[in-house]
Amino acid sequence: MKYSRILGTGSHLPARVMTNADLEAIVDTTSAWIRERTGIEKRHLVSEGETCCDLAEVAARRALDAAGVQASELDLILIATTTPDRFFPSTACLLQQRLGVRGCPAFDLQAVCAGFVYAMDVADRFIRTGAAQRALVVGSETISRILDWTDRTTCVLFGDGAGAVVLGSADEPGIVSSHLHADGAYKDLLQVPGGIGNGRPEAAFIEMKGNEVFRVAVTTLGRIVDETLQANGLSRSDVDWLIPHQANIRIIQATARKLDLPMERVVVTVDAHGNTSSASIPLAFDQAVRDGRIRRGEMLLMEAFGGGFTWGSVLIRY
Ligand code: COA
Repeated sequence: MKYSRILGTGSHLPARVMTNADLEAIVDTTSAWIRERTGIEKRHLVSEGETCCDLAEVAARRALDAAGVQASELDLILIATTTPDRFFPSTACLLQQRLGVRGCPAFDLQAVCAGFVYAMDVADRFIRTGAAQRALVVGSETISRILDWTDRTTCVLFGDGAGAVVLGSADEPGIVSSHLHADGAYKDLLQVPGGIGNGRPEAAFIEMKGNEVFRVAVTTLGRIVDETLQANGLSRSDVDWLIPHQANIRIIQATARKLDLPMERVVVTVDAHGNTSSASIPLAFDQAVRDGRIRRGEMLLMEAFGGGFTWGSVLIRY
């Protein structure tokens, strides 16, 4: 029996920072409203010409360094993204070329904010079946490119960034279990309505019914916690760290309460990064690994919820 083990992590944030005070000059909002309703203080944004692949490459190289793995040893490259550089080739193919690798499968996966947990599940299946020994899994986003900067209900919430992990085949977990779900009945609550369906793509921006998304997110994430623990015969006290998708501090706090975890055991980056969609979990994970909070042997629960709706969890013995 083979399992996937985390060999290394990496992340990258673009240099440009936009604070809540900066947003006050752009839309009718206040720093206090943003902080109190979301927990966000600032976010990083790409500059002119900076792309999803640029962010992914730096995060990927850092993860490969941390893992002690050469790019040439990879036999799978997977990028979760909603904001790819091009319609095609996939950003994963662009990254493969930058890393100087040829031949291994490389593809993008689009599950919006749940993209990283979806991608971890897929990579884990490659490794468990022996189809891959070393997999690079990246979440990378330039969400700022699909924001309507005149819409205060969305533009204050998001940021750009990338995170990556290198997974390797091992005799023990590693990834203990993963649980994925989707329900397209909610397609209109959180969406970018533009696309190629009606001909040439027009400018396309995020639209969200925030209040309704919030309510469904809290109950759904509560259920995914129960499902993950029950599937493994675990109790809440078995989880050492919660590494949640970072959309809103109030959603994160609700999931932490569900787990009976103090906030000191929850990795929070939403204050400094905003919602970076599929990049938020690997960014938070890398930060807590590098600052020494998360240690080998600990039990980690990742969970995410996003447009679709899509949602899921990954339970990891680190
Ligand atoms: N600054 C100031 N006021 C704002 C504002 C802003 N940036 N955005 C909205 N408001 C106003 C609204 O217009 C509304 O005013 P009204 O009462 O006069 O109509 C008021 O604040 C309350 O809006 P509401 O949408 O009910 O606020 P909320 O407490 O639900 O917070 C969100 C809004 C978006 C922060 C919250 O709903 C949320 O986080 N939703 C989920 C987001 C999410 O998780 N999305 C991604 C999933 S991956």
